[in-house]
Amino acid sequence: MLVRPGFWLAACLTALACAGAGTAPSRGRQEEAKSREPLSNVLRADYVGSQACAGCHASIYEAWLRSPMHRMTREVASTELSAPFDGRELALGGAVARLETHEGKRFVGLSQGEQNELYRVTKVIGGRYREDFVGELVPASSPFGVALEEQRVLPVSYLRFDGTLRYKGYSVMVRERHGLEAGLVWQRACVLCHNTAPQVVALYDELYGAKAPSYQGSASNELPASKAFRYVVDDAAGLRQALAGELALLGARGSLPENERHALEIAISNTRERFGEAHLVELGVGCESCHGGSRAHAEAPHRFDPSFALRSSFMHVETASGGRPTRAQDQNRTCAKCHTVLFSQYPFTWEGGERRTSPGGSTTNSGEARDFLLGGCASAMTCSTCHDPHGEDSKARLEELGTVRGNRVCTSCHRELESPLALGRHSHHRADGAGSACLSCHMPKKNMGLAYDFTRYHRIGSPTEQARVLGDRPLDCALCHAERSVEQITATMEKWWGKRYDRARLRRLYGQDLRANPVRITLIGGKPHEQALAADIAAAQQVPDTLEATLALLGSEYPLVRYFARHSLEKRAGAELALDMSLPGPQLVQAARARLNAAR
Ligand code: HEC
Ligand code: HEC
Ligand code: HEC
Ligand code: HEC
Ligand code: HEC
Ligand code: HEC
Ligand code: HEC
Ligand code: HEC
Repeated sequence: MLVRPGFWLAACLTALACAGAGTAPSRGRQEEAKSREPLSNVLRADYVGSQACAGCHASIYEAWLRSPMHRMTREVASTELSAPFDGRELALGGAVARLETHEGKRFVGLSQGEQNELYRVTKVIGGRYREDFVGELVPASSPFGVALEEQRVLPVSYLRFDGTLRYKGYSVMVRERHGLEAGLVWQRACVLCHNTAPQVVALYDELYGAKAPSYQGSASNELPASKAFRYVVDDAAGLRQALAGELALLGARGSLPENERHALEIAISNTRERFGEAHLVELGVGCESCHGGSRAHAEAPHRFDPSFALRSSFMHVETASGGRPTRAQDQNRTCAKCHTVLFSQYPFTWEGGERRTSPGGSTTNSGEARDFLLGGCASAMTCSTCHDPHGEDSKARLEELGTVRGNRVCTSCHRELESPLALGRHSHHRADGAGSACLSCHMPKKNMGLAYDFTRYHRIGSPTEQARVLGDRPLDCALCHAERSVEQITATMEKWWGKRYDRARLRRLYGQDLRANPVRITLIGGKPHEQALAADIAAAQQVPDTLEATLALLGSEYPLVRYFARHSLEKRAGAELALDMSLPGPQLVQAARARLNAAR
């Protein structure tokens, strides 16, 4: 058994004031919880489906039905779509995708030269910011009729926030493409983050350890060893039995080898090849995606509670230091099954890191939980401190969290900063101004979001960290102080917080003269994600001499950055900038320049 008496007590001594924040239950609660925990919540048989929760948790169930996470993957036949399938087209490099409706069914036609393909749309993914589509190829012999089995991700997205179509691949940091083809097989690429499956299916690579072959359950980037969770097999026979059960369901034949790693390799390759829609617990993010298999609870709620902790007779999970995860870590780990992406082959991360060798935090959306686990408070604070897991958060509420009125979220644990006097001394800003909001410095808005705006970087750290100051551009303080030079900002940090920054390394980032403006330099010569951010700051704070560089960014080798650049230009102009975004980079820059000159 995994319970270690006194563990919570030990955790509390290190976690600041955590008992007060209610994150660690008292010993009494712990004793009680133990007897109520289900024996297993990872196997297929432990899952019952969200429908089973409806009767007893009606209001949560109702909220969840409407929530974006539940609506993540929907059958087109039984849902409403925002995208108009009225013949409109997206062109890219001589290829055309056309959204059509025939006999009440949605299709996407793809044509390039002589080649024509028709896909019947089966599913829509997303719906909050955008809709992606999945479809089956209609054989040429049966127009609009029966389709082939395989469901592919179609190369066109509908952007709800501006009503346009965009090449699907450009939702992440890929380079310019010259055609439109049906993309990855949905069952292999998207299923485990946008739907509900038994936990064990997503854990094969974790149980295997380093260099596991990749499959649907592989999160694209793991945490560094000092922060990673370890999944440990306690009973090899139990694991084999679990794998055999899943393999039988997938229709795989043959017996499993004794060797644990070989057995896991077989489970991984069969899952990659055979896992399909029929093997999901349900479409969309269901109750048990987060709460774990809850059949025991649904059948006997007064005997068993659902648990974010991993419950299994044959494996357990440990923190990097070998302890049992705290309640908060278990919850955050759960969210990190999906909110963990370091998307695409884009090489860079924050903290000056490289995706392949020394990854830091994610620079775009969807890595929130991984980022959070990298940061300061994840052993005690949870996502649900700020987010409602059962429904969409109101924008206004999230925005308020970013002001001093939101500071309570933090001072509930970091009590020493509750009084205005202490806060002012800590932040060196007026205690009631924007410069004293905890999130402004500790969760800066510098990650590329889903609608060309910036969202909070979820790794809680400080603007003064060496890795940030010497690894990332522009300086975090420049998010609000775009008028200041590199030297002014770094010297202020040195004075206020007793730091010291290597000027030679700063010069490598910003050039010989540190009196230069960090935003302008980043816009011209930063990494693509840094450039997108600098363009946004330059527009918002009207940094002089930045229009040309923002225009040039329309030619970025990363098309997603071009869309951010266009958005920044629109912010400057206060009006829409109608551009044919399918043009190759250099032509796009020319077109935009012509458009702006004409407007002058
Ligand atoms: C037959 C009624 C019933 C069904 C079905 C049911 N629950 Fe519950 N649930 C309860 C009751 C009653 C409690 C309060 C238990 C208590 O604290 O004694 C509860 C409590 C919970 C809690 C809080 C546990 C805690 O740690 O405080 C969660 C989470 C939960 N249910 C999730 C679910 C999920 C998910 C499902 C569907 C898979 C589900 N429930 C199905 C009756 C039900
Ligand atoms: C590793 C997990 C993971 C995988 C794999 C994954 N996604 Fe996502 N996806 C996410 C997360 C997390 C978000 C939410 C991001 C946010 O809100 O910031 C998201 C968001 C989205 C959205 C935007 C949702 C909206 O309502 O606007 C779409 C569309 C989408 N994903 C499509 C796909 C498709 C298509 C695939 C397969 C090719 C895929 N995703 C694979 C984790 C994943
Ligand atoms: C995205 C993850 C997620 C999904 C999906 C989810 N929950 Fe929860 N749920 C949580 C978290 C996290 C908490 C704990 C909140 C806290 O302690 O702050 C929670 C708490 C609860 C509670 C106890 C506290 C309360 O708010 O009453 C119940 C009952 C519950 N969930 C039921 C459900 C049911 C039923 C569903 C599906 C209809 C569901 N949950 C779907 C994450 C989720
Ligand atoms: C099975 C995968 C999965 C798990 C587990 C998961 N998420 Fe998500 N989450 C998604 C996807 C996919 C989206 C994209 C939905 C969208 O943007 O429309 C999303 C969107 C969100 C959003 C933005 C939309 C909204 O509801 O406001 C928040 C916030 C969020 N998740 C928080 C959480 C938290 C907190 C947890 C853990 C308690 C969690 N998620 C667990 C897949 C998951
Ligand atoms: C201290 C508060 C806080 C905590 C804790 C927190 N978040 Fe957030 N999160 C925010 C705020 C504020 C935003 C809105 C950023 C913005 O203005 O766009 C946000 C945005 C998001 C979004 C993007 C929503 C969108 O509309 O695109 C997702 C997804 C998300 N958080 C997931 C998580 C997950 C998962 C966790 C836990 C691992 C977590 N958050 C923990 C405050 C928090
Ligand atoms: C539930 C309790 C809790 C909450 C709420 C909380 N923290 Fe923390 N925080 C901690 C713990 C525990 C640590 C680790 C302290 C240690 O290691 O001694 C920590 C560490 C930190 C650190 C140091 C990180 C580092 O890398 O050195 C910062 C900065 C921080 N928290 C800021 C915040 C901010 C800002 C908020 C609000 C958004 C917040 N905390 C909310 C518990 C919490
Ligand atoms: C969310 C926006 C924001 C962030 C982030 C921010 N500041 Fe400020 N800063 C302000 C505001 C607003 C003022 C106006 C006076 C005040 O509130 O104290 C200010 C004032 C200042 C001043 C005094 C200016 C004057 O004219 O006297 C300095 C110096 C300064 N900030 C430095 C920094 C440094 C260094 C950082 C990064 C560690 C930083 N600020 C982060 C908003 C911010
Ligand atoms: C103007 C920027 C700024 C604001 C606003 C700010 N902090 Fe900090 N905070 C810092 C810096 C810089 C450090 C790192 C100091 C160091 O390394 O000596 C830091 C460090 C911390 C730490 C680590 C322990 C320590 O004191 O060094 C915690 C915890 C923390 N802040 C919490 C908070 C909370 C809670 C709030 C809001 C009530 C807040 N901070 C507001 C800049 C800020």
